[in-house]
Amino acid sequence: MPSMLILGAASDIALECLKAFSLQNLSFYLACRDKKALENNLLEDKDFQNINYKILHFDALDSLEAHQKLWNEVKDEVCVVLCAVGLLGDQKKARTDLKFAKEVIEVNFTGLVPILSLAANTFEKKRAGSIIVISSVAGLRGRASNYVYGSAKASMNAYLSGLRQRLHASGVQVMTVLPGYVATKMIAFKKTPKCLTAKPSEVAQDILKGYLKRRDLVYSRPFWKLIFFVVKFIPEFIFKRLKGF
Ligand SMILES: NC(=O)c1ccc[n+]([C@@H]2O[C@H](COP(=O)([O-])OP(=O)(O)OC[C@H]3O[C@@H](n4cnc5c(N)ncnc54)[C@H](OP(=O)(O)O)[C@@H]3O)[C@@H](O)[C@H]2O)c1
Repeated sequence: MPSMLILGAASDIALECLKAFSLQNLSFYLACRDKKALENNLLEDKDFQNINYKILHFDALDSLEAHQKLWNEVKDEVCVVLCAVGLLGDQKKARTDLKFAKEVIEVNFTGLVPILSLAANTFEKKRAGSIIVISSVAGLRGRASNYVYGSAKASMNAYLSGLRQRLHASGVQVMTVLPGYVATKMIAFKKTPKCLTAKPSEVAQDILKGYLKRRDLVYSRPFWKLIFFVVKFIPEFIFKRLKGF
């Protein structure tokens, strides 16, 4: 049976994607940092009972060798890679805690490039496959409130755009997912406007639809596309004066 590799499989959005994609006749490699916690979580929820999965270890901060080993284990069966790894972190902390700022960049970008590149090279040879990465609208313009995270997501967006162009001729789909606010543990500390905050299940459905329609970019909720269309065009001399955004 063809398989899907989910990186960051314990993420709230990833778990909803697992439910949504389980109807696509796929088996799953679920890669996460805490295998035991994910196993317990899946066993407790009856929605996961009929899903064929294997849990593997993945940490974006692990060595290149570890990432290569993981890819070697799954590459013959995997036809879809979904990456839901992310670390928002505390922007204020990242101002002064330089080690932490570096970690935010690594978890959201540089730590993911090796495994995504390995998938890209395999899929290019097979002339088939889908690479789906959950990035963020935060990468569309740097803002004082989250620019370390945002800059890593911006790098990811640029990486995926280039990868998409490279792999287009091989028929490999590269899909960038751009959520705005999503009600997950990542932003549990934050009060966000209800009308702009998606449920993880909603994002999962948007991802599934985008996958089936072989989309390049998916905004979730779609209204964010309009918001950031405007935000991107605000001149820098005005943008730098805006507060609380
Ligand atoms: N929630 C939002 O408002 C929002 C908005 C835009 C984009 N996103 C993006 O959506 C994706 C999924 O996030 P979520 O909202 O579902 O939040 P989440 O539940 O906190 O998921 C983030 C996942 O990233 C994993 N992770 C963190 N550091 C890692 C590392 N070093 N190596 C491997 N995995 C690591 C976490 O693993 P553990 O379970 O082990 O902690 C967690 O499973 C992320 O890319 C996030 O940036 C979220």
